[in-house]
Amino acid sequence: MDPIEFEGNNRMWSGGFYSQLVGIGGILLTTLILISTGYFNAFGAPLPTSYWPHLGLFYKNKGKKKRPVRVYMDGCFDLMHYGHANALRQAKSAGDELVVGVVSDEQIVANKGPPVLSMEERLILVKGLKWVDEVIPDAPYEISEDFMNKLFNKYNIDYIIHGDDPCLLPDGTDAYASAKKVGRYKQIKRTEGVSSTDIVGRILSSMKKGDGNNNKNEDKNHAENSGSFKTNMSDFLPTSHRIMQFSNGKGPLPNSRVVYIDGAFDLFHAGHVEILRSAKKLGDFLLVGVHDDQVLSERRGRRTILHLHERSLSVLACRYVDEVIIGAPWEVSKDMIATFNISVVVHGTVSENSSEAQTDPYVIPKSMGIFQTIKSPRNTTTLSVSKRIIDNLEAYKRRNLKKKASEDRYYSEKTFVADD
Ligand SMILES: *[C@@H]1O[C@H](CO)[C@@H](O)[C@H](O)[C@H]1NC(C)=O
Ligand SMILES: *[C@@H]1O[C@H](CO)[C@@H](O)[C@H](O)[C@H]1NC(C)=O
Ligand SMILES: *[C@@H]1O[C@H](CO)[C@@H](O)[C@H](O)[C@H]1NC(C)=O
Ligand SMILES: *[C@@H]1O[C@H](CO)[C@@H](O)[C@H](O)[C@H]1NC(C)=O
Repeated sequence: MDPIEFEGNNRMWSGGFYSQLVGIGGILLTTLILISTGYFNAFGAPLPTSYWPHLGLFYKNKGKKKRPVRVYMDGCFDLMHYGHANALRQAKSAGDELVVGVVSDEQIVANKGPPVLSMEERLILVKGLKWVDEVIPDAPYEISEDFMNKLFNKYNIDYIIHGDDPCLLPDGTDAYASAKKVGRYKQIKRTEGVSSTDIVGRILSSMKKGDGNNNKNEDKNHAENSGSFKTNMSDFLPTSHRIMQFSNGKGPLPNSRVVYIDGAFDLFHAGHVEILRSAKKLGDFLLVGVHDDQVLSERRGRRTILHLHERSLSVLACRYVDEVIIGAPWEVSKDMIATFNISVVVHGTVSENSSEAQTDPYVIPKSMGIFQTIKSPRNTTTLSVSKRIIDNLEAYKRRNLKKKASEDRYYSEKTFVADD
């Protein structure tokens, strides 16, 4: 269980490392954790043993370290967002080791239409999540009896996990019926407030506002197009509890080399994962500054697709990230460098286009000799991912019409399901 891990770290907070934070203009996640450590006791209670049937020998049960409980969850993870990350976080807490099946490009094409991200990109994103221990590439879209046996026998999976939305096969039968029959199925609550469908809708409306040269007619078309992606979705409510669940809850150790990187991290993609990985290699503790919505829209002349808290959660879910400043200042100041004991400030070679000439946000770290440019391992940008969607608009529209019907059904029939 994640929450228990926080308890041993209280000493981190006694040094006053974060006490100078007020005035920097950002909210630091760990401060939230510090304030509400007591909150965890309510959630950290051990699960009743009845929750773990057939597990007499396993690790999760009574601390007898025989063998870790291995759980499996699959998905397409196309346009991966913090909803996916949250599902995998919950899946992980149902066992000790999380194995994730990433559905093949061919199977996505056959079942839903063309994916936005390639298998390679989706694997980078899934492997980049801190809760994921192993991946199975090219997993099937539907869990057949054969594949299920392979999971149990070859991959030593104990449980198959799925969200609380029904997953029906084309013939109307429950995709997980056979796993349920043998008592090796567990259900988690699906994360609401975000879906790939919804994100596609937002990309379409942001493109509409972003390209200054659109004429009225095109504007109207865009509005209609994005309309077909609207679902009756409730808004995502970023509670402090959710942020804590995503957070590591650890400050840097004494003598750590703190690396700082900042950005928008909009539509979190494989390029982001790879640059964060490169940045982390330069030190022991990676601090990521996520700029707020207003700063970004002023600097770039277009709105972000995801808002600050959504972007921050995606960054926090990344295994290379140790800490996030939610709403980091545009310019890296001397005060900030001192407060966080930043050793090196890095920036990648690939970044989003800005609308106008900018003042250099790194003047101070440069003057201090602690600025470093690192080569971005990939050339992907938020804009380039968005463009793929625009270029395939007709296909995505068809794909989303199908999806929308089941989404709307889910929300209209939605009832309370206890969260973790
Ligand atoms: C600050 O960072 C440097 C490494 O750049 C480290 O040697 C030093 O111990 C750190 N200071 C504290 C108080 O952790
Ligand atoms: C981004 O900026 C470069 C150089 O300023 C320019 O050549 C390119 O067309 C811009 N791309 C977009 C999508 O605006
Ligand atoms: C980005 O990289 C890919 C493969 O590495 C290449 O095919 C593509 O042309 C590149 N795109 C740009 C805009 O440089
Ligand atoms: C979705 O919202 C629209 C407009 O508010 C409403 O007409 C429709 O019935 C809603 N659909 C569902 C499934 O709740």
